[in-house]
Amino acid sequence: MRAGPAQLEAVRRALEGQVALKADPGTLAVYGHDESDTIDAPPELVAFPENTAQVQAVFRACVANRVPYTPVGARSGKSGGSISLEGGVAVSLEKMTAIRSISPEDLTAVVEPGVITGDFMKAVEAKGLFYPPDPNSLAMCTLGGNIAENAGGPRALKYGVTRDYVLGLEWVLPSGEVVRVGRQTIKGVAGYDLTGLFVGSEGTLGVATEITLQLVPLPRKVMTALAIFKDVHQAARAVSAVLAQGLVPRALELLDEVSVRAVDGKGFTFPAGTGSAVIAEVDGALEEALVAELSQMDEVFRTQGALEVLLAQDDGQREKLWAVRRGVSTALRAMKKHKISEDVCVPRSRIPEAIARYKALGAELGLTVATYGHAGDGNLHANILYEGPHERPRVDQALERMMRLTVELGGTITGEHGVGYAKRSFLAFEQSPGLIALQRQLKAAIDPLGLMNPGKIFP
Ligand code: LAC
Ligand code: ZN
Repeated sequence: MRAGPAQLEAVRRALEGQVALKADPGTLAVYGHDESDTIDAPPELVAFPENTAQVQAVFRACVANRVPYTPVGARSGKSGGSISLEGGVAVSLEKMTAIRSISPEDLTAVVEPGVITGDFMKAVEAKGLFYPPDPNSLAMCTLGGNIAENAGGPRALKYGVTRDYVLGLEWVLPSGEVVRVGRQTIKGVAGYDLTGLFVGSEGTLGVATEITLQLVPLPRKVMTALAIFKDVHQAARAVSAVLAQGLVPRALELLDEVSVRAVDGKGFTFPAGTGSAVIAEVDGALEEALVAELSQMDEVFRTQGALEVLLAQDDGQREKLWAVRRGVSTALRAMKKHKISEDVCVPRSRIPEAIARYKALGAELGLTVATYGHAGDGNLHANILYEGPHERPRVDQALERMMRLTVELGGTITGEHGVGYAKRSFLAFEQSPGLIALQRQLKAAIDPLGLMNPGKIFP
């Protein structure tokens, strides 16, 4: 429920002089928008706490005055998780940007939530260490946001997702109380795994104000190849075939024909006749091992009909390929007025079937469906592109059928972007009423007034 002007004014007065606040229309509009393209809902006040005590003060002022509040990072989210659906206060963690420590001996780092993920990667790599989770938005997204959403990325195939790297958290609960969950050690099983619960809680159960991350040694060698196929069905079968050989590249990314067309010539020109492409990347300590892995993969790709397999010759060429891949989402958006981006995930054995059926669905409904993404772990970005509201009923029908189909294949409605606002009406396709009720009970136990990030996740 939205708060009234007197309640908001009381929060403002309680925080004035203590926490930086903004309420000009320009700022409010910016904080009412994220990368989900689903809804714009401006908050009524934005708070910029700089330390744990200030975060606590904001939460407490909101609770005392019954004003809804929603945490926000860099607004790169794809499911509307940081949107203030009921107005109130947006609590931005972007000012908390310290990397407190990086320990090569312990293979851990301690950071504040506003650190940009890509900056953190560079800082640990300078010390010969590696933080693998690589959301596509790494140049702008924050570690706090990655933790809220349990972000994934291409390297999840070999290395797992954000949750796999979070050892411990200083966590401010919705009431403003602070708890330290998890551990500083590699092993540790004391009590319930609340770290696991809080990571991926989509800003509904509190926020991290300090994060202890696990690191791994930086792989000494990385090699990247690009396989060209005549169509996406061949490419999808090739992805499955690589995995079936027991090969574990660190990334296996697929681009269908629409995605190739969207990025072709923008920093990289695909060979003539490219109908689909797969980017494969391997890493490790020994060059000979990587060469052997790549040549095995090359053979699989060619057996599956690859027209060409190109090997990046240096870091510059590797970076070019990844720039192409990271540009897909933006390039697709430029193709038509509207884009709905899904991040369904299916079991690996069902990847070719899933792609074929999403495409068939698009064809049946006369919609452009672009499929790309982390095919190696079954996490596909199926995007529906359309021109205007007249197409919306068909788009909604396509979305619903896509979600049902995914669940039918044994998959999930969201592999990495979260349920948030965008996918809450699909959750019940995947989870039983009992399971949803249990999660609502957890939410009510931790946030009894339901003031934190209202309207998210649950149908
Ligand atoms: C990507 C984002 C959309 O992988 O998750 O491009
Ligand atoms: Zn992705």
